[in-house]
Formats: sequence, structure tokens, C-alpha cells
Amino acid sequence: MALSVVILAAGLGKRMVSDLPKVLHPLAGRPLLAHVLDTAAALQAQRRLVVIGHGAERVRACFAGQDSLIWVEQAVQLGTGHAVAQALPAVPDADTVLVLYGDVPLVRRETLGPLIDRAACGGVGLLSAVLDDPSGYGRIVRDGAGRVLRIVEEKDASAEERAIREINTGILAAPAARLRDWVERLDNRNAQGEYYLTDIIALAVAEGVTVQAVVAGDAAEVAGVNDRAQLAALERAYQQRQAQDLMRRGATLADPARLDVRGTVELGRDVFIDVNVVLEGRVRLGDRVRIGANCVIRDAVIEQDAEILPFSLLEEACVGPRAHVGPYARLRPGAELAERAKVGNFVEVKKARIGAGSKINHLSYIGDAEIGRDVNVGAGTITCNYDGVNKFRTVIEDGAFIGSNTALVAPVRVGQGATVGAGSTLSKDVPADSLALTRAPRKLVPGWRRPGRT
Ligand code: UD1
Ligand code: CA
Repeated sequence: MALSVVILAAGLGKRMVSDLPKVLHPLAGRPLLAHVLDTAAALQAQRRLVVIGHGAERVRACFAGQDSLIWVEQAVQLGTGHAVAQALPAVPDADTVLVLYGDVPLVRRETLGPLIDRAACGGVGLLSAVLDDPSGYGRIVRDGAGRVLRIVEEKDASAEERAIREINTGILAAPAARLRDWVERLDNRNAQGEYYLTDIIALAVAEGVTVQAVVAGDAAEVAGVNDRAQLAALERAYQQRQAQDLMRRGATLADPARLDVRGTVELGRDVFIDVNVVLEGRVRLGDRVRIGANCVIRDAVIEQDAEILPFSLLEEACVGPRAHVGPYARLRPGAELAERAKVGNFVEVKKARIGAGSKINHLSYIGDAEIGRDVNVGAGTITCNYDGVNKFRTVIEDGAFIGSNTALVAPVRVGQGATVGAGSTLSKDVPADSLALTRAPRKLVPGWRRPGRT
């Protein structure tokens, strides 16, 4: 049976006090709506329909690459029932429909499975939750035998109904043909003058269709984002899940509350991650990798036994086995360190390969370069790769030694085993096994006195 997921995302999100449509606010670095779309994809939905209204153009533009999405415009927001009705013309009768919300990002597919199963058997599956403070939500009204009868919105509820602590999360699944019939019969004679999706429950019950409410075990999972405080709370809940997952997979975290994952992490065995680390995009950490405190690592591969020391920033970089990076190192896109290479403090590397065992230990800029094996690059070495218009490459061959404070004016090549004296500015190639130095000769004036004041 085919599944259509309808995601409601037309609301204004007034309490966000933002120019950005609510469903585009990021959670773990990605729009809220992206998380919901992922969940729908994980459920193998044949169709994903998104109902948009406020900020519709921006929302669409944000997902422009995803051709498989069906966008449904709800020009005026007349209620959740009306919103679903706008999407149903694009849904075949035989489908099962699951209704999700663009601002409820953490619901898991394991929780939704039973609802879909119920709908696939002709019933209605409804996700509820039991809250200590149910205020603001629709309440689930059951009969004496515990069967669901209807949902009553708080604004329409009697005092007795308001005392019910089982609330409607809004998430439900139903057979498309029946849902179509029910939403067409909704009216807006209620306290808010809206077409309530929740009213389909009473219609289903009246027709003898079983409605099963599945109670969500975890309140964060069904929590929505209405303001920035709730967004921050859900961010923490999401990060807690990520940390638990990493630990389950064998990583040691110095403090699970002080790690942020904004992407996916491929993990070897016995990885250690110290406090305040941010992992973004696709990150791969090999066996026994150690990440020091306060590192930001985005789209990087760090191979086994490598160590990233505190306060380092790595973006689109590869770090080879047993290599050392930092403290305070910056690896920019295209930085590739071979095994045992060392990039130390206040060193910036961009589009450069650093060979096995080579060291750039202090205060250097290496860009557009190819550095061989066992090269020693002294403190303060700069590759002058840019003439203001074009970029040029620097090549340093195996076993070369670059003295401190050297400027390598690219294009330039230092041959195998060559030595460059400290303080040199090199604009011509250095042949293998030779010494090059451009240091000015020292001038010495013995007994010289500084001029006095005139
Ligand atoms: C709804 C439920 C309520 C439930 C609560 C859970 C109804 C009538 N009530 O109430 O039982 O406890 O959610 O949070 O369904 N939306 C549209 N178009 C519309 C109206 C809403 O796309 O015309 C979207 C909103 O963007 C939002 C979602 O639907 O993401 C829920 O709408 P909202 O107005 O917040 O519903 P509640 O009053 O909170
Ligand atoms: Ca709401």
C-alpha cells in the first residue's frame, strides 16, 4: 500500500518574531522542515506533500533541489482540516495518508509505524501524549471503555474536558478515500471559526471506524516549535539523542551535554571526544581518534590514531593515520595530511598535501602546495600563492628543510633534500640537496651610539 505524507507548514509562526518562515529555522544546522521530510523519506513515502502559505516562496526555494516534493499552496489559513483538504486532490484514493507538521521535527519513524499500520487496515491512527500541563492542546475524549470518541479543542472544551491530560499531538494517519470524505464534511462552527482536522475523529467514530490513539512515550518527540525557547529546548533534545547514539556506538564523550552534531558521524572504535566540540556535515572519525576540547570539524575525514588538539577548526580536510593537528590549527578545504604529519599551533593549511611525517609546527600559512615526506617547515613560513589575480603552486620535495620566516613566492619548487636558510624570500626554484638563502649580510658598527635629542 502506498503512503502519502502530508506536512502542514502554512502557519505564520508569529511567536518566533522572525522574518524567516518558522519551518526554515534551523535545528542541528538544518531547517525544521528538512527533519520532517527526512522522516517521511525514511518511512518510504511514495508522495511527500507540503502545505505552505506564509513565506511560501522562501520555503520552496530552500528545497528547490528536491524534485520529488509536491508543494500545495494554502492561500488563507482556515484551519488544519482545510490545510489537509488542499493536499488531498494530489493523493490517490488507495493511499494511506499520514499527517505531519513542519514544526514538529523530532518525531521518530518507529513511533509513526503503528499509526500507519492502523490506517492501512482501514482505521484511524492518532498520536497522543499524556502531559502534566495539557493547556493549549486539544484533548482526547474517550468513553468509559477507553475507546476514543472525539477530540475537543481547548477553546471549545468544558471544564470537565479541560481536566483531561491526554492531548492530541495533531499527528494522525487515515485511509485517503475516507479522509477525503471526512474533510469535505467539516464545518467551522467552533470557537475559532476554523475547519478543524480534529473533527474527523468524531466522524470516523460515527461511521464505526476504529480510532486508535497511540500514546507517545517521549514528550520531546511530539513537541512543536512555536517560539525560540521551544526551538532551543528541541535542539538540546536532539543533541542529547546524538550523544547517546555516539556513546552506544562506542565513543567516549567527556560530557554528552557539551557536544553538538549537525550532520552525520561515521565512527571507528574507541574514539574520544572532549568538551565543546562541534561536528558538522559528514564527519568520519577512525579508530582511536582523539578530538580535543573546543574543536569545530566539518566535512572531514580523520583517520585512525590521529589526534586533533584543542581549539582547531577543520573544514573539508583529510587527516591521515597518527597525524597531529593543533592546538589552534586551521585546516581549510583541500588540506590533506598523510600519516604522521604534524600541523601545529597557528598554522593555516589550504588546498595542500602534506606528506608522511612532515612537520609544520608553528605560525605558518601553506596554501596551494604539495609537500613531500619528512619535510620540516620552520616557524613563520608563508607560501605567497597569490599575486592579486592568480594563484600559484609551491612544491617542496621529500626531506627538504625550510628555515623559519621563509616566504615562498609561488610558483616555486624546493628540490629533494634542499635546505632554505631562515628569513629567505624565495622566488626561484632550489635544486635538490643545495642550500638557498636570501638573507641580507649583517652590518656591524662597533660602539655605535644612538642619536641624542636635538
Ligand atoms: C492543533 C490541533 C490540536 C493539537 C495541536 C498540537 C487542530 C484543530 N488542533 O492545534 O488538537 O493539540 O495542534 O500542537 O488541528 N496549519 C496550516 N494551515 C492552517 C492551520 C494550521 O498549515 O490553516 C499548520 C500550522 O502551520 C501548524 C499546524 O498546522 O504547523 C498546527 O496549527 P496550529 O494552528 O498551531 O494548531 P493548534 O491550534 O496548535
Ligand atoms: Ca500549534
